[in-house]
Amino acid sequence: MPPFDLVIFGGTGDLAMRKLLPALLHRYVDGQIVAGTRIYGIARDERSDEAYRERVREAVAAAAAADPRVAECVDGFIELLHYRRLDLSGEAGWPEFAAEIGNDPDRVRVFYLAVGPGLFAMVGDRLQAAGLSGEGSRVVVEKPIGKDGASAQVINEALGRVFDESQVYRIDHYLGKETVQNLTALRFGNALFEPLWKAEHIDHVQITVAETVGLETRAGYYDQSGALRDMVQNHLLQLLCLVAMEPPASLAADSIRDEKLKVLRSLRPIDNGNAAQLTVRGQYRAGAVGGKAVPGYLDELGHGSHTETFVAIKAEVQNWRWAGVPFYLRTGKRLSERMSEIVVTFRQVPHSIFADLPNASPLAPNKLVIRLQPDEGIKLWLMHKVPGPGGMRMREVAMDLSVEETFGGRQPDAYERLLMDTVRGNPMLFMRRDEVDAAWHWIDPIRNAWEVNHDAPKPYTAGGWGPSAAVALIERDGRTWHEDE
Ligand code: BG6
Repeated sequence: MPPFDLVIFGGTGDLAMRKLLPALLHRYVDGQIVAGTRIYGIARDERSDEAYRERVREAVAAAAAADPRVAECVDGFIELLHYRRLDLSGEAGWPEFAAEIGNDPDRVRVFYLAVGPGLFAMVGDRLQAAGLSGEGSRVVVEKPIGKDGASAQVINEALGRVFDESQVYRIDHYLGKETVQNLTALRFGNALFEPLWKAEHIDHVQITVAETVGLETRAGYYDQSGALRDMVQNHLLQLLCLVAMEPPASLAADSIRDEKLKVLRSLRPIDNGNAAQLTVRGQYRAGAVGGKAVPGYLDELGHGSHTETFVAIKAEVQNWRWAGVPFYLRTGKRLSERMSEIVVTFRQVPHSIFADLPNASPLAPNKLVIRLQPDEGIKLWLMHKVPGPGGMRMREVAMDLSVEETFGGRQPDAYERLLMDTVRGNPMLFMRRDEVDAAWHWIDPIRNAWEVNHDAPKPYTAGGWGPSAAVALIERDGRTWHEDE
């Protein structure tokens, strides 16, 4: 890949230091970022290139310590870094910066807005005024794109005034995770699953994204957002789309995005009338996670709040393929373990020939478990005869494919793939504007229903699996949340 320019607004922030710069370092180690590339950190305070480089050196120290190949490359990588102070509310520094970056249409310029969504429009306007928004320029925006449909529209319109849609890359980092990409490989690279991938053969789908962390350092953002906006609107819905979408005609970005959009538009609306039956919101209280005592959400926050840190939803995709198949979604903070997985439970065999055997235990339905993190892998649960002379005894066992054991090596972080895709100009793993709009269109009435119905979040003890109402949500239907042994 030829040299390029990557400009990170919010260049000293948490995302840049924890995710973006370590990801870029790894791409440099693998030779995808060559000499002549310039990586700029932009922020408001005065700082020299040297001071910035030192800060980044500390930020990537752990990555370097973990792998001698990475450690060897740190000096070369650091050389590519620059720091510029730019004022978003004024002109200061912009003409010089614009002259330095230039507007060569043949050199890729990626502007990464690792800043709050309230600043997206302002940065866009500045880039345009500085002549930096033309051909060759791309802009990357982080979620959340707004806090509801209306505010997302304002942001998208502001970006749209400066950039063509093809220049806008809306990141959902879940789409960059290896195992999430593997969903597409699994479904459309194998003849085995697709014929069964429909209501006729699938009983239900579960999508769980469980975290052990609490508020971390993000109280200001998180308390305004809550789990529905922070996780469901984007990550969980995107996973649901990849499970439920029709086979796209090709791997072309719009081919896939068109199919995802149709899923979002087929979601059964949830509003005041049915939110109480189909959704559960929770907020963690003090407890223990991994044997360590942790405070409750309100103690961490220091004031009262009705923000949810847990959501469970029974969703439905209303189309021919999925009619009547529930998609149970749940996500929360301070849960028992960090674990994200998709569980596809198939229907029971239509008739059991084993039922009359003495001590027959019921046949368990087949399940395909796609583990996104940690221990990435796939398990296919099957009924199997217990070996030995004890008759036709059956047990549920898993065919177990661990990504690490099968492929070895390190798993690249989602941001590595996504950052390089922005440079390559491949929008496949980014959200198109209409997808964001459609996701908000489904989310907003849920939020609204909670407000109108005064549905305060139900307390749950940190270290568990959320409020008991989330268990009831699925057990009411005669099903249970999947638990791996
Ligand atoms: C982010 C959310 O998008 O995803 C965070 O804002 C959450 O609240 C994070 O912790 C989870 O990402 P991952 O990759 O650790 O599962």
